[in-house]
Amino acid sequence: MLSYLNILSFPLTSLLVEILSELKLEKREPRSLSRVHLVESVPVGLYESSPPPRRSIADSWLRLLQRANSSVDIAAFYFTLRASDTDLGGSADAQGREVFQQLKQLHARGVKLQIAVNSPQKSIRDTGELAAAGAEVREVDLQVVTGGIVHTKLWVVDQKHLYVGSANMDWRSLTEVKEVGVSVEDCSCLAQDAFRIFGVYWSLGGVNHTSLPPYWPARLSALSSSQNPLRLKLNGVPARAYLSSSPPQISARGRADDLSSILSVIDDAHNFIYISVMDYLPLSQYTQPVRFWPAIDSALRAAACTRGVHVRLLVSCWEHSPGSMFTFLRSLLVLSSPPLSCHISVNVFTVPSTAEQKKIPYARVNHAKYMVTDRALYIGTSNWSENYFTQTAGVGLVVNQTGSAVGPGQQTLQSQAEDLFLRDWSSPYSSPLSVDDQHPCAQ
Ligand SMILES: *[C@@H]1O[C@H](CO)[C@@H](O)[C@H](O)[C@H]1NC(C)=O
Ligand SMILES: *[C@@H]1O[C@H](CO)[C@@H](O)[C@H](O)[C@H]1NC(C)=O
Ligand SMILES: *[C@@H]1O[C@H](CO)[C@@H](O)[C@H](O)[C@H]1NC(C)=O
Ligand SMILES: *[C@@H]1O[C@H](CO)[C@@H](O)[C@H](O)[C@H]1NC(C)=O
Repeated sequence: MLSYLNILSFPLTSLLVEILSELKLEKREPRSLSRVHLVESVPVGLYESSPPPRRSIADSWLRLLQRANSSVDIAAFYFTLRASDTDLGGSADAQGREVFQQLKQLHARGVKLQIAVNSPQKSIRDTGELAAAGAEVREVDLQVVTGGIVHTKLWVVDQKHLYVGSANMDWRSLTEVKEVGVSVEDCSCLAQDAFRIFGVYWSLGGVNHTSLPPYWPARLSALSSSQNPLRLKLNGVPARAYLSSSPPQISARGRADDLSSILSVIDDAHNFIYISVMDYLPLSQYTQPVRFWPAIDSALRAAACTRGVHVRLLVSCWEHSPGSMFTFLRSLLVLSSPPLSCHISVNVFTVPSTAEQKKIPYARVNHAKYMVTDRALYIGTSNWSENYFTQTAGVGLVVNQTGSAVGPGQQTLQSQAEDLFLRDWSSPYSSPLSVDDQHPCAQ
């Protein structure tokens, strides 16, 4: 019935084209069922007059939970799916509550829920209640082994489906913060690889580690890497994909490290690099003394000034934006002046808030962390500053559909992400940073 309704809402011609192209594919190779969705959370009040057609992160999580048949494995920074009285949640946390309820019911449905969460947890209200309902929760204390935290946001369902993206397991991440993620269904090889990254956290959480194991067991070795990407079909379009993780100290054999995958995507770009990150800082943020960390910054300068690639950076403005970020960004912008005239532009994205919304702590911000080029898409979970790549645990997914045949009615993931980026870039919430803008974020 549901699919029948979907068919009715589909323009008939594109439906016919899709059926015909499926039939043609059928003859050459077995039909691939892997579906991928670029998903996002759009804060209440944003794009009100033109609601984005994309699936929301809340719906993608609920759908994954609905499909779960045997296991759900979640790696998370923290859990606050329900507002506390001081959060001014009201009914604003309805979606978070719904996700929480579905998680809580998994055990009764015979689905095993495993949660690897950063330690120490600020609040154990959600994880405690989930554990009481049958979930197995392991706290992972990376502080003692790498000096970082678990900042990952990763779901693996039945070792067949996965979600990765910027959204925390937080009610605000579903309705009050702008987030971008990817959900992939019926894609066992990628999901099994994600499960191996989860497995590292799980094993670190199993015992009181004060040091890392001398080696990681082979069952956690990477199934994909930049040299050996998985060859898949996503929504029918051939794709090469791999997962990367940070920090390198917790990478099992063969695992690409997150920074290298970002650099390789930058270095591979021919025409454009669009980056949407909350924070961009060529610094070590959490180690003393603070030091300059030019890895990504240098790669962007090289792309724009020696290869003529158009670089656009969309960063966030809110009360927690580090002032030094804008100084570094202005130093990039200077390169766009003659005689160099490198193609670099920077825009600042501000999520508007009502007086009431302003009171919600740590919300109303663009928290997305992804990069799209004319050649690939990178979707990650990390702020772009040193400690996220050297100490803090995060994951990235690289999808490359360059050169793939795209049938009528099909779209690559990278062109979907390009559309999403350009919508935000040219929206009323985004404004150009200028070289002499001293306080772009004064609100
Ligand atoms: C769901 O799991 C049960 C047993 O755990 C299995 O018999 C059944 O085939 C599974 N269904 C699907 C659709 O995977
Ligand atoms: C780990 O260490 C903490 C604090 O030292 C202790 O409370 C806890 O019981 C230990 N857990 C295990 C599994 O040994
Ligand atoms: C994308 O795939 C093409 C073709 O295989 C390859 O040349 C390129 O290096 C890949 N790019 C990235 C960023 O992985
Ligand atoms: C990521 O950056 C933001 C802005 O500086 C900060 O509020 C947030 O705490 C950072 N995340 C972590 C886990 O440090």
